[in-house]
Amino acid sequence: MKKNFITGAEYSLQELEKIIHLAMSYKKGIKIPDLSGKMLTLIFANPSLRTHLSFESGMKKMKGEVNVLHAGNSWQFEYKNGAVMNGDKQEHVKEGAKVISRYSDVIALRQSELVTTASRHNSISSWEILKQDEAISKLATYAEKPVINMESNMFHPCQAMADVMTMKETFGNIKKKKYVLTWSPHIKALPLATPHSQLLMPALFGMNVTVVHPLGFDLDSDVLKMAQEKALLAGGSVKISHDQYETFKNADVVVAKSWASLQYFGHWDKESDYRKQFEHWILNEEKMKLTNNALFLHCLPVRRNIEVTDGVLDSPRSKVIDEAENRMWVQMALIFYLL
Ligand code: CP
Repeated sequence: MKKNFITGAEYSLQELEKIIHLAMSYKKGIKIPDLSGKMLTLIFANPSLRTHLSFESGMKKMKGEVNVLHAGNSWQFEYKNGAVMNGDKQEHVKEGAKVISRYSDVIALRQSELVTTASRHNSISSWEILKQDEAISKLATYAEKPVINMESNMFHPCQAMADVMTMKETFGNIKKKKYVLTWSPHIKALPLATPHSQLLMPALFGMNVTVVHPLGFDLDSDVLKMAQEKALLAGGSVKISHDQYETFKNADVVVAKSWASLQYFGHWDKESDYRKQFEHWILNEEKMKLTNNALFLHCLPVRRNIEVTDGVLDSPRSKVIDEAENRMWVQMALIFYLL
């Protein structure tokens, strides 16, 4: 049975620990696998710096090959069963996924719709439709090879695995460490995939997670419920707070991330007006001083002095560059694990 990596929660804690362990050993130069003759196909419907280069560099470090398909230069997939394809979609995912599989040993997709490039996301009628994550789930259903999620509408699990590896590099055991995911201001309404994974993954590893955000910036309730259940199983906890100063006290890790307010889904001008009220949620040195000398993480790219001050980003506790590097090592381990 082929494996996929869509949310990370398909795997047991033991399996996730094994992938992190492999990644840490590769980083030390130990037992990097030889994937000569293996082909990784990367499909991008959205821009990327880290995801693209970390996958490509990682595969090449293992002597494998990489194909990159920019979805905008290819045929648009139809996802509906029984569709009469008389519109602007030229190829059904049923054929597309199988054809890509014949050229590939592993397939990875970045396709996220909640990006504020105006017309496209305005055409999606509701979060309930978007959260079904049709593109990645149908690709995984019809592909004959393992599929990796490089960021969908709902999850960005490779980012969250790199975050876990970065925390383990400092703490070793991260179980029950106080982990704070704080909403941060931004000039755009950003997707929820990364904060969802940055909630779910530390919960899977048994951390004591608090998500702190202004009222109206709730993460998806199904993801929150899953994270709470997984955290309990792993000996940790998940809480929600709206008080940044209170939450930061004794934090071991602070992760900053901006995301959109779904209460304004489809009404993005109103969302923008609402979001502007919370510019004081910027992560600064004063707030970091409340913590237990916490590590600072951000998935990048980051808007300096909008989301996070220079002082925090440039401090010795900022691990954002290690975090970006670790994307490559965890993804190498993941590819090896899936093959
Ligand atoms: N963190 C992250 O996924 O970066 P990119 O969007 O540059 O790939």
